[in-house]
Amino acid sequence: MRMKLKSKKGNGKIGVLTSGGDAPGMNAALRAVVRTAIFHGYDVVGIRNGYDGLMKGNVVPLTLRSVGNIIQRGGTFLGTSRSKEFRTKDGRARAFNLLKAWDVSALITLGGDGTMMGAGILSKEYPIQVIGVPCTIDNDLFGTDFSIGYDTAVNTAVESIDKIRDTADSHGRIFVIEVMGRNTGHLALETALAVGAEYVVIPEAPLKTADLIRKIQEGVNRGKTGSIIIVAEKDRPGWALTLAEVVEKSIKRDVRAAVLGHLQRGGSPSSSDRNLASRLGARAVELIAKNKTRLMVGMKCGQIQEVPFSSVVGKRRHADLEKLSLVDRLSI
Ligand code: F6P
Repeated sequence: MRMKLKSKKGNGKIGVLTSGGDAPGMNAALRAVVRTAIFHGYDVVGIRNGYDGLMKGNVVPLTLRSVGNIIQRGGTFLGTSRSKEFRTKDGRARAFNLLKAWDVSALITLGGDGTMMGAGILSKEYPIQVIGVPCTIDNDLFGTDFSIGYDTAVNTAVESIDKIRDTADSHGRIFVIEVMGRNTGHLALETALAVGAEYVVIPEAPLKTADLIRKIQEGVNRGKTGSIIIVAEKDRPGWALTLAEVVEKSIKRDVRAAVLGHLQRGGSPSSSDRNLASRLGARAVELIAKNKTRLMVGMKCGQIQEVPFSSVVGKRRHADLEKLSLVDRLSI
């Protein structure tokens, strides 16, 4: 039997925003937030363009129909930004005053580490309930095994690299392919394992160029034709181009580079991301209904859990080095 909408209205007003880099599945999470909130008798407003929109009063009322036909869409229909101003006391004061003026007593923030940091500070400084939902293709947030967007980004990278493998093998070329991930190697490692890469370079295990070159040479000697080297961008997006030149000079074979860049952030979310987004978005509202605050919802060993912002912010979940050695062992 389908559940009926609660007739009780006037539970209060929840604001929701997406901030930082967009991630596939953000729209699915927004849908879950809005529909669960309305189900529980809340009004909902969407804040456009993240914390920037919060300080500028860029707000729209959201209804059940506002979030129809978005579960499958990439990006975020509310828009997003990386706000420097929200890091200042003045910026946050302006944001809180606007929230008060709109009668918003609870805020749900969707994003990565910068978003959780902003949410943590705002909820410490002002009397407002705040719950965070982890969305980042980097998957580096502490307190959750998976962030919304990560699974889709890995699949996008795998699909692209499988295509590059076809041309690499046809020409007997070596490809150096850079993926995103900021300062962690989750995206690079997971992708490398899935495409059967010959070598992977991640921030958690610094590159020794001589080792890389030796390994490629050994592969060539064993009869490998094309080789795929995956590198995480680290803090130097585009560095794969330089690395490819160095490798080409040492190996004396054709080497090409590809930087996957922002294509990993777009596209329709995978079913895993849609489901994760639906579960975490709904739970965020349920926590508001239980008067909880200053928490991020996360997924640990298949169970939804609540993690205090103080245990998430300023930490970084590093990639599993066991996977690194597996890539190595499986590429002989
Ligand atoms: O955090 C997500 C991410 O895509 C990182 O992987 C990348 O380093 C960064 O955002 C790029 O940010 P921007 O889109 O602002 O250039």
